[in-house]
Amino acid sequence: MKILFLNGPNLNLLGTREPEVYGSMTLADIEAEVRQRAKELKVEVDFRQSNLEGELVNWIQEAKGKFQVIVLNAAAYTHTSVALRDAISAVGIPTVEIHLSNVHAREEFRHKSLIAPVCRGQICGFGSKSYILGMESAVYVNAENK
Ligand code: DQA
Repeated sequence: MKILFLNGPNLNLLGTREPEVYGSMTLADIEAEVRQRAKELKVEVDFRQSNLEGELVNWIQEAKGKFQVIVLNAAAYTHTSVALRDAISAVGIPTVEIHLSNVHAREEFRHKSLIAPVCRGQICGFGSKSYILGMESAVYVNAENK
C-alpha cells in the first residue's frame, strides 16, 4: 500500500513558524516520525511539500493509479481552494484531511474547510501526531476499500 502525504504553503517553515501554535518540530522531523511508523505498518510513503496551489493539484492528479490514499495538510489552501477540492473529487482517491492545530478553535475563517466535504475524514489538533493518526486512518480506509 502506498500513501501520498501532501503539505501545503508555509509548512516548510515549521520549527520556526509560530511554534506556540504549530510546535517546534520541523517538517523533516515530522516526516521522520511518519517514516518510522510507516515501517511498523508496512506501508510505503511519499512525503512532499509545496507552496504552490497548482503543484499540489498536479500531484493529486498524478497520484491516480499510484497511491491508494492521500493524507493532505492543505494548510491555508484548506480554506480557499476550489481547485484542490475539485482535484480530490476528480481523481477519486480517498483523502484524509489533517491539520496540526485545531482549526475549529481558532479564527473563524479557519472553521470552514472547502476540502472537507470531499475528504474521507478530518483529523486536527494533535500536533505532529495528526500525521501519524492520518496515516493510521489511511490504512483503515484502504482496508475498508478492499
Ligand atoms: C494548518 C491550519 C491552517 O489553518 C493554516 O493555514 C496552516 C496550517 C495546520 O496544520 O494546523 O498553514 O493546516
